[in-house]
Amino acid sequence: MALSDMLYWAIGIAAIQAVYCQENFIKVECDPENQGVYSQDAVLNCKVVSIKKDIQIIKMMWCKVEADKCVAKTMVTFEDGKWSAEDARFSSGALEWNEKELNVSLLVQKTQVSDQGSYRFMISTDTGYEKGNTYLRVTAPYSVPVISSVPGINIEDSMPVTLTCNASGGYPPGQIHWFDQLDSNWTKSSALRTIPTQDGRFNLTSVFTTTASSSMALYKCVVVNDKMDKQRAEYQLAIGPGKQEGTKNIKAITAVFVVVGALASGILILYFHRRRSRDEIEKALEDGEDEKALNNS
Ligand SMILES: *[C@@H]1O[C@H](CO)[C@@H](O)[C@H](O)[C@H]1NC(C)=O
Ligand SMILES: *[C@@H]1O[C@H](CO)[C@@H](O)[C@H](O)[C@H]1NC(C)=O
Ligand SMILES: *[C@@H]1O[C@H](CO)[C@@H](O)[C@H](O)[C@H]1NC(C)=O
Ligand SMILES: *[C@@H]1O[C@H](CO)[C@@H](O)[C@H](O)[C@H]1NC(C)=O
Repeated sequence: MALSDMLYWAIGIAAIQAVYCQENFIKVECDPENQGVYSQDAVLNCKVVSIKKDIQIIKMMWCKVEADKCVAKTMVTFEDGKWSAEDARFSSGALEWNEKELNVSLLVQKTQVSDQGSYRFMISTDTGYEKGNTYLRVTAPYSVPVISSVPGINIEDSMPVTLTCNASGGYPPGQIHWFDQLDSNWTKSSALRTIPTQDGRFNLTSVFTTTASSSMALYKCVVVNDKMDKQRAEYQLAIGPGKQEGTKNIKAITAVFVVVGALASGILILYFHRRRSRDEIEKALEDGEDEKALNNS
């Protein structure tokens, strides 16, 4: 073998070794997805795995990635042995190597809807550079829904009634489903309005019009955010005048007295009338006017 050939192979092997070492001394493994809840703290986890001891860290960095670029205000950097952050809501802690593993996490405080997205962790060492990607999914629970009806009181059978179900401050945008007391699904007869709030969450308003029926007076609205989060409320239509207000009940009682009173005087009138008739019959019999007495009875 010629010297040039030997040199060729030697250089080739060295180059392969260098590439091999660079790409394999360290590896970054991240959870593919992390859950965050609005206004609470969220933690994003990655770990650096090394096959070589005594790795010198030159720089580490966390940031949110948009259009494949780091968002400057979300950057958290480790350099010269200490961490620094642009925004105090984002932080990370320097950790000790454990065996050949280094856990690095990004702590997001008071999580906002706008924090949802892709994040990247990068590490640069004396043996090479590596990065890992992870995702923060943010949810916000909706408030317990509130149902109101128009008209609200004194509803009569077969009257049209409009029910409104409101739930606020949730994320992602949810649905509102309607059911009656037999759990028949009335959602298709309702209209949903999704109103964005300033902080990226949503208010939901669903309007459902039905025909009042005293045998079907209970309705339910269910707010569906995702499979984990369901909020519900029930509403009983105020059908009948008795449901209106206290004075109505007093009037009803007065009416009963009036009816009872009328009945009583009727009985008295009837009694006196009968009594007079009987007196007349007796008088007629005494007078011997049989024909007149019979006609009168
Ligand atoms: C890193 O995290 C994993 C899983 O979360 C845990 O099992 C391991 O002990 C952690 N290592 C260190 C150095 O904290
Ligand atoms: C429900 O929300 C709508 C729209 O924001 C509002 O007009 C209505 O007053 C609310 N109703 C109740 C009972 O809160
Ligand atoms: C009710 O109807 C809505 C709209 O058609 C549908 O999305 C929902 O899954 C239904 N719910 C149940 C419990 O059947
Ligand atoms: C959303 O609902 C909350 C609570 O009812 C209310 O304070 C807020 O003004 C609503 N926001 C919008 C944009 O309608």
